[in-house]
Amino acid sequence: MSRPILIGIAGGTGSGKSTVARAIFESLPEKNIAILQQDAYYKDQSNLSFDERVKTNYDHPLAFDNELLIDHLKALLDGHAIEQPQYDFSIHNRIKETIPIEPKDIIILEGIMILEDRRLRELMDIKIFVDTDADVRIIRRIVRDIEERGRTLDAVIKQYLTTVKPAHDQFIEPMKKYADLIIPEGGYNKVAIDIMVSKVRQVISDKYQ
Ligand code: ADP
Ligand code: C5P
Ligand code: MG
Repeated sequence: MSRPILIGIAGGTGSGKSTVARAIFESLPEKNIAILQQDAYYKDQSNLSFDERVKTNYDHPLAFDNELLIDHLKALLDGHAIEQPQYDFSIHNRIKETIPIEPKDIIILEGIMILEDRRLRELMDIKIFVDTDADVRIIRRIVRDIEERGRTLDAVIKQYLTTVKPAHDQFIEPMKKYADLIIPEGGYNKVAIDIMVSKVRQVISDKYQ
């Protein structure tokens, strides 16, 4: 097997990264694809109490265990399996169970800060930035965090204003300059997804020529 292709999908919270990653996955049913979420690589916080974990700033590059993420990406790119951590947003921590991921032809890495680390950027074959207006992103986040991540409206608003928004302006928005492709609005942008899927097919066929 030749080296797999690594696609990076960055963008602000609620921009539609996870949805874009799933759409690409579903549009290439004949391919062997793994999706890695940077969220699963938040640092292990088992040494802290729940009340302490709530106070962590999850929108800072130092919140992520990029060492483990890079080790796992390099292993997959070299054709080795990994045990991927799982993250539970409602307890602000990794859970004990991991998921075995066998080597794949395509790896999609998605997360808010994946373009912030030069070592991660250098591993990527295609870099995407999902670009969605801040008002749309916060509305999506309020709905999702209450429905899926066990949050209250007050908690989402407070976190957004204190850490999420400043970090977006400081660490995420400037990373757009590293993207090969900018996708407006996220997961239901069918034209952009189709273009991405054609590009991935072309990169794969070039590799096997
Ligand atoms: P991210 O991973 O970037 O935070 P998600 O993919 O989880 O974003 O999307 C956040 C929410 O917005 C989800 O509920 C998702 O279904 C919805 N969503 C994503 N893309 C779109 C879109 N283009 N139009 C409307 N809703 C969308
Ligand atoms: O899917 P999305 O890109 O929104 O995930 C990243 C967001 O998850 C970050 O903006 C961070 O604030 C949030 N997060 C959280 N609680 C955690 C871990 C991450 O609210 N325990
Ligand atoms: Mg997501």
